Amino acid sequence: MKNVLVVDHPIVHLYLTVLRDKTTNTASFRRAMAHIGNILAYHALSELPLKETTVETPIQSTKGYQTASEVIVVPILRAGLSLVDGIIDFIPEAKVGHVGVYRDETTHEPVNYYDNLPSGIKKGYNLVVDPMLATGGSASHAINFLKESGAENIRFVSLIAAPEGVERMQNDHPDVPIITAAIDEKLNDQAYIIPGLGDAGDRYFGTS
Ligand code: PRP
Ligand code: URA
Repeated sequence: MKNVLVVDHPIVHLYLTVLRDKTTNTASFRRAMAHIGNILAYHALSELPLKETTVETPIQSTKGYQTASEVIVVPILRAGLSLVDGIIDFIPEAKVGHVGVYRDETTHEPVNYYDNLPSGIKKGYNLVVDPMLATGGSASHAINFLKESGAENIRFVSLIAAPEGVERMQNDHPDVPIITAAIDEKLNDQAYIIPGLGDAGDRYFGTS
């Protein structure tokens, strides 16, 4: 699939199995999300622009690097928060913005209830984060909002994507690469991902 990176790594498969397992408790679910978030961040940041600098080792000066763009992580509330710890563990200086969206249970359309983006979004290396890309409505809505706010450099980081969500993203935002750990089979009648992992937000926050 164009512009989609499925991170195919043995450790990702192990943690994804923990996350899919319905008997996994909240504590283990959170730990597995943090580990996978860390690995996804490694891939999502592979094109982070750098500028050269000079560093003094105890022996002599040599070439080093600094980031040339601010990294801005934008979780889609609530469930997007589940991947943030793992991502900022990888890049601790990242700023974090928030977009609050929930899916209407009947129409499955996104409903926006909160936005707070840091300054710097226009020139930033922006990662929009949500573990579940189902219909793609929430992700597309959040990315529209970032673009309206001036963001140009955006990647979407997810854990599990449905083919329907990937297609929606490729139609609405063909310029936005998707980094994900899995592409599952399809959506069910309630627009849940099959086999998926259930409701990511409820499982991460222990609210199911
Ligand atoms: C879930 C998930 C995504 C959205 C994906 O959020 O975290 O944001 O659904 O579905 P979509 O691709 O069809 O839009 P939910 O509405 O359950 O809210 P929550 O994160 O607050 O639990
Ligand atoms: N949101 C979730 O949390 N899980 C799904 O399978 C679909 C949307």
